[in-house]
Amino acid sequence: MTPPPGAIDAALSALPGPAPRVPPIPRYLEQAYWWAYVHPRAVHTFEREWLVNAILFGNYSRLRDAALAELGQSIRGRTLQIACVYGDLTPRLCRRLAPDARLDVIDVLPIQLANLARKLPPDPRVTLAHGDSTSLACADAAYDQVLLFFLLHEQPAHVRRATLAEAIRVAKPGGRIVMVDYHRPARWHPLRPLVAAVFRKLEPYATDLWDAEIETFLPARVGSAPAAKQTYYGGLYQKLVLIR
Ligand SMILES: C[S@@+](CC[C@H](N)C(=O)[O-])C[C@H]1O[C@@H](n2cnc3c(N)ncnc32)[C@H](O)[C@@H]1O
Repeated sequence: MTPPPGAIDAALSALPGPAPRVPPIPRYLEQAYWWAYVHPRAVHTFEREWLVNAILFGNYSRLRDAALAELGQSIRGRTLQIACVYGDLTPRLCRRLAPDARLDVIDVLPIQLANLARKLPPDPRVTLAHGDSTSLACADAAYDQVLLFFLLHEQPAHVRRATLAEAIRVAKPGGRIVMVDYHRPARWHPLRPLVAAVFRKLEPYATDLWDAEIETFLPARVGSAPAAKQTYYGGLYQKLVLIR
């Protein structure tokens, strides 16, 4: 059952056996993204669909729907969403879950998990868990699909590599890793200078995704099946789907 706000850590600490390791807040989150996710007022400020949509220049619903379409109209099997997101992506994902499907959402910030819990109706198919994308407490090959929505651009390269390695590890052979994120826009893109300036000021690792394809951050052993890539809005955004 989707836990009520605040119950996630309480539930974790009530588990029998040794206390689960509580992941510390990663340095990059505290240093670069405290204002967006960590600060107690961050949720209050950013959990507004019009604001998320404005930050994405009106592309929020298009990108959200592209991710959902990739997962399926009726989502079967086990899905892992790595990191919460503002907006209604996860509530919509839940509405598509087949009766026997499961969704696990993992985030490193309890405040973000509590916010997501408030957005979801109680649902025994959905679990929210406190964890770090670089060391998932999940068995190998456990998930039919793994979703990463605008997480990778926020992570330094070595963290991004570890996140992708974990996403691949926990996906079943033949399972899909669906990523939606920034991408290098076309040279003529009128917003390119503005976005570059915002990245310089607020999103220090985001231009990595302008300088290199996401595949270059994948572990070396991956790469037999070419990933399917689609770009949006003059190339500013991308959806990349990798088959494990
Ligand atoms: C998915 S990203 C960005 C999403 C997008 N900007 C939006 O609309 O919300 C934001 C989330 O990633 C989470 N996050 C960042 N680094 C993480 C990590 N190493 N492990 C798990 N979650 C992480 C943050 O706590 C936050 O909830």
